[in-house]
Amino acid sequence: MDDGAEQRKWFWATLMLSSMTVVAVVFAVSELVENRFFRTTDYVTLHYLYITRGILSSLLLAVWAAWYVLRQRRRTEQELRRSRERYRGLLEASPGAVALYDVSLQVAEWNATAERLYGFCKAEVLGQPLPTVPPEKEAELRQLLAQVETGRPVLDIETLRRDKSGVVFEVQLSLLPFREASGRSYFLEVAADIRERVRLRQKLLEIEKLASMGQMAAGTAHHLNTPLAAMLLRVQMMRERSLLGAYSADLERLESGMRFCQHFVQRLLEFSRRAPVEKQPQEVAATIESVVSFFAPPLLTKGARMSVDLSAANGERVLADRNLLEALFSILLSNALDAIDREGSIGIHCRRVSGERLEIQITDDGCGIAASDLPHIFEPFFTTKGPGKGTGLGLAIARNIVLEHGGSIRLERAPRQGTIALVELPLYRSAAAGAEVPA
Ligand SMILES: Nc1ncnc2c1ncn2[C@@H]1O[C@H](COP(=O)(O)OP(=O)(O)O)[C@@H](O)[C@H]1O
Ligand SMILES: [Mg+2]
Repeated sequence: MDDGAEQRKWFWATLMLSSMTVVAVVFAVSELVENRFFRTTDYVTLHYLYITRGILSSLLLAVWAAWYVLRQRRRTEQELRRSRERYRGLLEASPGAVALYDVSLQVAEWNATAERLYGFCKAEVLGQPLPTVPPEKEAELRQLLAQVETGRPVLDIETLRRDKSGVVFEVQLSLLPFREASGRSYFLEVAADIRERVRLRQKLLEIEKLASMGQMAAGTAHHLNTPLAAMLLRVQMMRERSLLGAYSADLERLESGMRFCQHFVQRLLEFSRRAPVEKQPQEVAATIESVVSFFAPPLLTKGARMSVDLSAANGERVLADRNLLEALFSILLSNALDAIDREGSIGIHCRRVSGERLEIQITDDGCGIAASDLPHIFEPFFTTKGPGKGTGLGLAIARNIVLEHGGSIRLERAPRQGTIALVELPLYRSAAAGAEVPA
């Protein structure tokens, strides 16, 4: 027998017993009164006395039973209210986003965490179809619900949900069956945001991939470097010695192909370089100007315009390895140069940003970066340039250099046309005591 039936049985038993006691007390009292005051009374008076006693005992009984039932009901209601408050409190305090919905996915409960996670407030979703399942996950949900219906709960799976603004994100989700006393069945979905966890996991995988790729690249590059240099030398000699002009075009092509291989191998070596970095305070403006001067001939060939404004960096220094800093700016400039058409333009500007950092912007009005490529440009070997043109290692190296110097780098699509590369580096400040420290 369940708890409710047991309680009801005891309720009726006590009500009956107490009512019988009330009746017995009324009769006993009336018996005493009759013996004491109405011993000699005539039959008719006694008759009225009995009628009065009957009415009185019925009235008392009714009042008693009503009071008893009402008291019991009040208690039950209080109990119900308390348990409802407890349940609400638990629901709202739950760190997971809780949604309760029925078989037709109509929402019946929605807690505060769900409001925060999905951006839908409770009033918006109650009685409405569950709005957080992205279309590509609807079939999966149906499948999971079918599993829950067979009595097997779904625990801690990773899937996708959608918030009010339409952003789809990763969640860890559990689905449990929930049956009301009335027999109506629901599904209890508890979800937690795991975007950060997924991001860290991907980062870790990327680092692992990079580390093993770096090792492989270093080995390959090391082995190819010497034979390549020897082959290049030999081809150059053959070209010089070739008396018959017949092969000279082929030899020239061979040489340029080999130069690309050599450049590629050198980039690989730079990428996997483990040599200690020698950091010294470096004048940013001077470093950039020396790189710019190095780019003058290819700029001239392309008829490109270059505007350099480094006034904000005047006298400012960063603690850096000069060679690496130069490599960083040459990578960004050579990308800009590759991107622009004939007579395009490139700009270099600086500005101080909060926290004593210097931002260097390299802008170009070239072909720009496709939105679909943007997430991949820092990946090693990612290139959109034709075979023999791009190594896909420039930005991967640039990012390593910037990270090594406590800075950040990002590339954005310029508002109208082209690309903006933004490098942020921490400035270097001399301490008053004489010892020099980074800002
Ligand atoms: N300034 C730029 N304008 C347009 N695309 C760029 C620019 N800088 C980088 N990219 C894109 O990023 C890719 C990766 O660059 P990078 O790592 O330097 O390799 P690579 O230059 O050898 O292709 C390029 O292939 C290109 O698609
Ligand atoms: Mg490049």
